[in-house]
Amino acid sequence: MSALKKKLQEKIEAWRPRTTRLVKEFGEVKVGEVNIGQVIGGARGIRSLVTDISYLDPMEGIRFRGFTIPEVMEKLPKVPGGEMPYVEGFFYLLLTGEVPTKEDVEEVAEEFRKRQEVPKYVFDVLKALPIDSHPMAMFSAAIVSMQKESVFVKEYEKGNLSKNDYWAPTYEDGLTLLARLPKIAAFIYRLKYKGGNIIPSDPKLDMGGNFAHMMGIKKPYDDVARMYFILHSDHESGNVSAHAGHLVASALSDVYYSISAMINGLAGPLHGLANQEVLRWTQQVYEQKGGKVPTEEEMKQFVWDTLKGGQVVPGFGHAVLRKTDPRYMAQREFCLKHLPDYPLFKYVDLLFKVVPPVLLEQGKAKNPWPNVDAQSGVIQWYYGLTEYDYYTVLFGIGRALGVVSNIIWDRALGYPIERPKSLTTAMLEEMAGIK
Ligand SMILES: CC(C)(COP(=O)(O)OP(=O)(O)OC[C@H]1O[C@@H](n2cnc3c(N)ncnc32)[C@H](O)[C@@H]1OP(=O)(O)O)[C@@H](O)C(=O)NCCC(=O)NCCS
Repeated sequence: MSALKKKLQEKIEAWRPRTTRLVKEFGEVKVGEVNIGQVIGGARGIRSLVTDISYLDPMEGIRFRGFTIPEVMEKLPKVPGGEMPYVEGFFYLLLTGEVPTKEDVEEVAEEFRKRQEVPKYVFDVLKALPIDSHPMAMFSAAIVSMQKESVFVKEYEKGNLSKNDYWAPTYEDGLTLLARLPKIAAFIYRLKYKGGNIIPSDPKLDMGGNFAHMMGIKKPYDDVARMYFILHSDHESGNVSAHAGHLVASALSDVYYSISAMINGLAGPLHGLANQEVLRWTQQVYEQKGGKVPTEEEMKQFVWDTLKGGQVVPGFGHAVLRKTDPRYMAQREFCLKHLPDYPLFKYVDLLFKVVPPVLLEQGKAKNPWPNVDAQSGVIQWYYGLTEYDYYTVLFGIGRALGVVSNIIWDRALGYPIERPKSLTTAMLEEMAGIK
């Protein structure tokens, strides 16, 4: 057994009694009340999920295993010559809750290296799809095509796998899938946008470095990739992608089915696709102004035109956050350092100034501040990744780190199949006292 798996086993065995005790002795303790607004309103704010991988405070933003984004960036081992931590080390933190040593990072990197070979049929599946398929549909299809590789399914079908051991083959599937995602994603990019001119992987490189290499984009894009994967990894369990992954896995569907579902949820414009929407929308002003940075007044008008057209302002608002997303701030810092004079960044920075007061004046959005997606496309564009349909795939690689960690722990702690209860409209009317 690898040192990482052994460490995880110890952590799981130490943690399990806490969950068992809560359910057995305190199962009747109330967590909160639910009102009709929440029931009709997409279960907004209903506390009915458990995760220890990350926690999203509405005012503070995300903490991964208790660490803020600046703390993660400071504490985790960095790639030599780069500014960003190893994605491998970050995954170690998500999975075990501990800050890894350099040796721990190397061990995860070695695990990924061993598992990164993608079966040839996956590339055949991708080549068989129409070339104008959305890259997220391609990514999802590639992932689900590998379902037959699932170690969990093979072990489960033997008929003697104990519930307490479900996590172990799930871990095998999770690590194998994570190791392969960058290669599959880079293949999709090169197939769809670069005439099928595929760049072979360089197994000597770390995950971020190898991804940048396979994409064919020079330094410091390796650091951009690391930053992206880390920032997009996890945002507790209630967002659509994480929840879709968790929900599907709760039926004991394997990691391939679950992560494919996660990708499908991420592909919606109100969720992960917002990063491409931001760029498309910003490009509209850019074209209108012939690349000149608009005045504040002109930008304000553009924002109002969008709202009056019945559209949302992409990259702003959030279902939980009530302040500027720290993931936005981390990317802004990167832009201020690496591309402060880039016109598109100036646009985005102007939007940061102009949009919140407009949304406040409109009075609908509960959170007028920018989210992670407001800034991310601009960085990609700057480094030459101008095919914005592709941006959500990058989000997907990152999000898989968090969702795989969650699924392994869900299995380890024996979380059951998800099954919220439905009501009819008439029942709600009766509860409301409507005759
Ligand atoms: C993220 C988002 C889906 C959250 O939705 P939510 O939890 O329902 O948000 P709220 O409770 O604040 O929504 C209340 C109202 O404000 C509107 N609103 C919220 N954010 C808005 C935005 N950025 N632009 C315009 N209107 C917005 C909603 O559409 C809703 O309008 P309605 O009452 O007519 O249906 C929403 O803010 C949004 O659509 N943002 C733009 C897309 C985006 O950036 N998504 C990525 C999120 S990480």
